[in-house]
Amino acid sequence: MMPRTVLSRCARLTQQVPLESALSGKQSVQRGMSSLSVPPPACMLRPLEAPLRYLFGPGPSNVPPRVLAAGGRPIIGHMHSEMFGIMNEIKQGIQYAFQTNNSMTLAMSGSGHTAMECAVFNIVEPGESVLVAVNGIWGERVAEIAERMGAKVHTLAKAPGGHFTNAEIEQALAKHKPVLFFLTHGESSAGLVHPMDGIGDVCRKHNCLLLVDSVASLGAAPLLMDQQKIDILYTGSQKALNAPPGTAPISFNERACQKMFNRKTKPVSYLLDMNYLSNYWGNDGKPDRIYHHTGPVSGFFALRESLAILAETGLENSWRHHTEVAQHLWKGLEDLGLKLFIKDKDLRLPSVTTIAIPEGYNWKELLAYIMKHHQIEFTGGLGPSVGMVLRIGLMGYNCKKTNADKALAALEDGLKQCRKSKA
Ligand code: GLV
Repeated sequence: MMPRTVLSRCARLTQQVPLESALSGKQSVQRGMSSLSVPPPACMLRPLEAPLRYLFGPGPSNVPPRVLAAGGRPIIGHMHSEMFGIMNEIKQGIQYAFQTNNSMTLAMSGSGHTAMECAVFNIVEPGESVLVAVNGIWGERVAEIAERMGAKVHTLAKAPGGHFTNAEIEQALAKHKPVLFFLTHGESSAGLVHPMDGIGDVCRKHNCLLLVDSVASLGAAPLLMDQQKIDILYTGSQKALNAPPGTAPISFNERACQKMFNRKTKPVSYLLDMNYLSNYWGNDGKPDRIYHHTGPVSGFFALRESLAILAETGLENSWRHHTEVAQHLWKGLEDLGLKLFIKDKDLRLPSVTTIAIPEGYNWKELLAYIMKHHQIEFTGGLGPSVGMVLRIGLMGYNCKKTNADKALAALEDGLKQCRKSKA
């Protein structure tokens, strides 16, 4: 290890010399001898600044100190045996969170979109038919991803906040004969949690795989991968799981593996090819793991810790807790005279609440006021729900009645102060 005095002297030198030249606007006297034409940017010579904020939007959510500390531990090599041990533990944590025994379970190096693309790219071959339920932004995204890779995309569409009956799904499956049906469990753009019962059976009847997005719902609303016959399930790290953004759990069951490992064409993405990823995660039964890509070591440490917190809390406790806090928030919002966007309580996503934009307000001004005066992030709609809703997310670590009260007080103040704004 470098002696302290040397370390601090180095730190002073690396910080001060360029900083002085940057501040004086002059380059160092050595410039004439330098081969560099681009000087160090002044912003890089200042310390990182990131404000402290209450992240009460749809995610990322504030990260608990324990998870931050795990992510801040010294890294090890991504191919070290200890790292493989940690990845094996992550797998077990995901199996618990998803309620699955699938051995083809892993975490993607990337956000929920990476898992979304991984699922579509590996399951579907160009020219195959895919059915996508679109009732918010996530269906729109999957339809576009499938279309880009050359699938024949059919959509089953509803306005944001709408949901699909099993009969509607079955009719569309019979008509389009897709190899894959996509449904969002927690549609964060609309604040809707989609009923899941029976959909897996309907898909099996029509020989179709069921892909479910649980980015906004995992850990907050009941979801049972194996029991509900979900063939492929993915989530993100940054919502109720409360890890930083950048890793995404995913799991494939036996039916999904049969399809994806017996395809005629290679998946369009090398990075997301499950032939390689299954080996990297030790899921393919081969004795050696071969280098494929460098996984986000710190992100995996943090994800492991967030999965550990979920395991300690217990899934059912976590679901119950999210519902109780959400109900407290919903009552408070109604007491403020606001209208919840999803009328049926049973269809409201406990992690992300949507509020119909109150009349007479400019929603952007309202959100900006709350951010400026209360350091709280709420957001507007997303994709098709832009201009329709405000969104408040209380998940994982942020899911507390005291935070719901803080959110309500900020909103009440915002509603008072921004009333006269032009809508
Ligand atoms: C992102 O996931 C969002 O819902 O805004």
